[in-house]
Amino acid sequence: MTEQKTRKFFIETYGCQMNFSDSEIVASILTKQGFEASTEVETADIVLLNTCSIREHAEERVRKRLHYFRSLKKKKPGLTIGLLGCMAERTKTALMEEEQLLDLIAGPDSYRHLPGLLEQARSGKKAIDIILSADETYADISPVRLDSGGVSAFISIMRGCENFCSYCVVPYARGVERSRDPESVIRESKDLFSKGFREITLLGQNVNSYEWLAGLERVNFPLLLQRIAAIDLRLRVRFATSHPKDLSPELIETIADHPNICKAIHLPVQSGSNAVLDKMNRKYTREEYLGKIRAIRSRIPGCAISTDIITGFCGETEADHQQTIELMKEASFDYAFTFKYSERPQTLAAERYTDDVPAEVKERRLREIISLQQELSSASNHRDIGETFETLIEGESKRSDKNFYGRNSQNKVLVFPKTSQEPGEYVMVKVKRATSATLIGEAV
Ligand code: SAH
Ligand code: SF4
Ligand code: F3S
Repeated sequence: MTEQKTRKFFIETYGCQMNFSDSEIVASILTKQGFEASTEVETADIVLLNTCSIREHAEERVRKRLHYFRSLKKKKPGLTIGLLGCMAERTKTALMEEEQLLDLIAGPDSYRHLPGLLEQARSGKKAIDIILSADETYADISPVRLDSGGVSAFISIMRGCENFCSYCVVPYARGVERSRDPESVIRESKDLFSKGFREITLLGQNVNSYEWLAGLERVNFPLLLQRIAAIDLRLRVRFATSHPKDLSPELIETIADHPNICKAIHLPVQSGSNAVLDKMNRKYTREEYLGKIRAIRSRIPGCAISTDIITGFCGETEADHQQTIELMKEASFDYAFTFKYSERPQTLAAERYTDDVPAEVKERRLREIISLQQELSSASNHRDIGETFETLIEGESKRSDKNFYGRNSQNKVLVFPKTSQEPGEYVMVKVKRATSATLIGEAV
């Protein structure tokens, strides 16, 4: 590299928070090797797309973007274009054959090889590495924090997934489940705290099955949480995602006992019908799920619970759909991410079941679920009027430079007139008004 001018790379990220975390690992690997991060695609020598395969729509967006890059490459023939992440892993070389402009393909466990792969691509030879690993966790790599406000950061504590929910592509795109050395997670958390960060979100597809064995020592997820919470009371800890089948009483106790472990649990239910849950291979029933909700609500009063729901899964009847509606009301979710079922090649559902719910029925059911959730979210926010919350200031409100925005422990966004404090500090805010998305208040 030394005799050549520094090559600039631009990364565009799609998909879940884990992918955004991976882009920070990629940026760290490349900058250590002498590449320079660029914030504009137009001035970059290398464009990397870190992609998602979770639904068909996610892949379509990437394909559209590649068409734009085709025009860019015409103007700049030396431009290297690489596909990273889940879509790279899932489609393997098919997309490279279809989209002649791709120079490089690297799956989620191949990022350490990127400098070599980029050299290869530069010499005109297509570079491909989609080998999944059983133990790669990038534990020793300190991510370069991209687009960070300096208050809140994400840390991946595990990779992969072995749950094989029948609709889901993640186990194929991300490989076997593996946990990261707790010491490296604690080191990274302490380092972030010393740099002024005040909130850490621990990431994994199913953090409840986190497990690290070293000699006689066994660290499970509640223990890891406790160790991070002990760093400093001013450091908040969050986590995502919890699979309901593995949410343990020990975890509920740990959250209840630590003021700086946030009172917000994301617990994707997917469906309220036992027949659908069984076909989805979720390994819990609606009764078991609702039992866990009751346990959370009684031990952690005021805890926010959010969820993910898929409508129109194979064979979903109107009665199944109604059961989802009833479960949503009973659980009284504070927030929900809602999706239409999208068949993914390779998955168990694609092989075993027919995607038989017509598009317009999926859409109508989705609309019903979204509108019910809007009511539930709005009711949840209106219950907070008159309450006072410890709020971590994240920055200036996008709508007005006179206001700050921040979050409470329940992960709700609060907007309030600026105080003399700075982002990264805590302030008590009393809620005066609410919309379905935001709480509006005043510092007290
Ligand atoms: N590991 C997490 C979820 C990761 S994917 C968990 O198990 O909860 C995020 C969400 O995308 C899922 O919870 C599910 O609601 C949705 N999803 C996954 N595959 C999908 C598909 N094929 N079609 C529609 N939505 C899907
Ligand atoms: Fe997909 Fe299920 Fe794994 Fe979540 S737990 S990533 S939904 S297979
Ligand atoms: Fe995430 Fe999408 Fe992959 S949700 S794990 S980037 S398929």
